[in-house]
Amino acid sequence: MNFLEKMKTWQDLINQRLDQALPAASLQPAPLHQAMRHSMNAGGKRLRPILVLAAHELYPSQHDPVPAALALECIHTYSLIHDDLPAMDDSDLRRGRPSCHKAFDEATAILAGDAFQPLAFEILSDSYSTQPKLALDLIKMLSVTAGSQQLVGGQMQDLLSEGKTPEEENLSYIHTNKTSAMIRASLQMGFRLSSAGEDEEKLTRIGEVGLSLGLAFQAVDDLLDVTQTSAQLGKDAHHDGESGKVTWVSLKGEEEARRLASRHTEDARERLLRMGGDSAFLLELMSYMLERKF
Ligand code: IPE
Ligand code: IPE
Ligand code: MG
Ligand code: MG
Ligand code: MG
Repeated sequence: MNFLEKMKTWQDLINQRLDQALPAASLQPAPLHQAMRHSMNAGGKRLRPILVLAAHELYPSQHDPVPAALALECIHTYSLIHDDLPAMDDSDLRRGRPSCHKAFDEATAILAGDAFQPLAFEILSDSYSTQPKLALDLIKMLSVTAGSQQLVGGQMQDLLSEGKTPEEENLSYIHTNKTSAMIRASLQMGFRLSSAGEDEEKLTRIGEVGLSLGLAFQAVDDLLDVTQTSAQLGKDAHHDGESGKVTWVSLKGEEEARRLASRHTEDARERLLRMGGDSAFLLELMSYMLERKF
């Protein structure tokens, strides 16, 4: 199977297992469950789940990495629903559809986002219950990542910085926490489920791979915001400039942002290569994430 075929196979697998894990749209209260499915089923690249599977593949094991992949996608999708709210980025389009608060209403979107958070932890605790230590490690990794000193903290700082003069230290805090933390957790959780998962040193090192990859990912996201159209992105383009966001593009311009994305990707590649294991797919995925157009 070539790289793109494998991506498609894994996306299909993730989508099918997400469909089984989410409450049926008809369950009471139906608008809430419809809203959750509206945002989740809209597509999305499923990069975090795929990173979980790819990290697990470095040193394959009997453990099923898919539930961990689903849990990450639940937290990610909640973060997008809330990110789009009028009180945050106020974006009308997401994953090629009206954003959750546009398709439903604000209260429903807030609650749909809320509901995805416990669902992530329910999936983890249900799926790995026969290995309590493993389950607790995964729950701990995801909860710390999603919390006030990582994902939520990064989102807060992103909002606090709107309209402010871009400064490198602040930008680095925002990107590391709002985005890289989830990319790092994806690789670390997948790796924790691999046969080398209890090797603390390797777990730290795959985390460093994730941090660099995440910084590259957000630099690309900031670039795409200025170079692509909303139709190409499936989300509101030219949004960062309008809302005065602090981005690499606003700090140093497009060219430097592009150089930075390449530099962080190269750093991630080198760190990964030093770790050993079957890294062929993950290396291709890194290039794909750098060169993506949406
Ligand atoms: C968008 O993430 C939010 C960021 C952290 C930049 P993705 O680009 O992975 O969004 P989806 O999941 O494919 O919609
Ligand atoms: C959001 O960053 C990162 C999240 C944690 C959701 P952005 O605000 O740049 O994400 P997009 O561009 O709306 O997807
Ligand atoms: Mg945002
Ligand atoms: Mg946004
Ligand atoms: Mg963006």
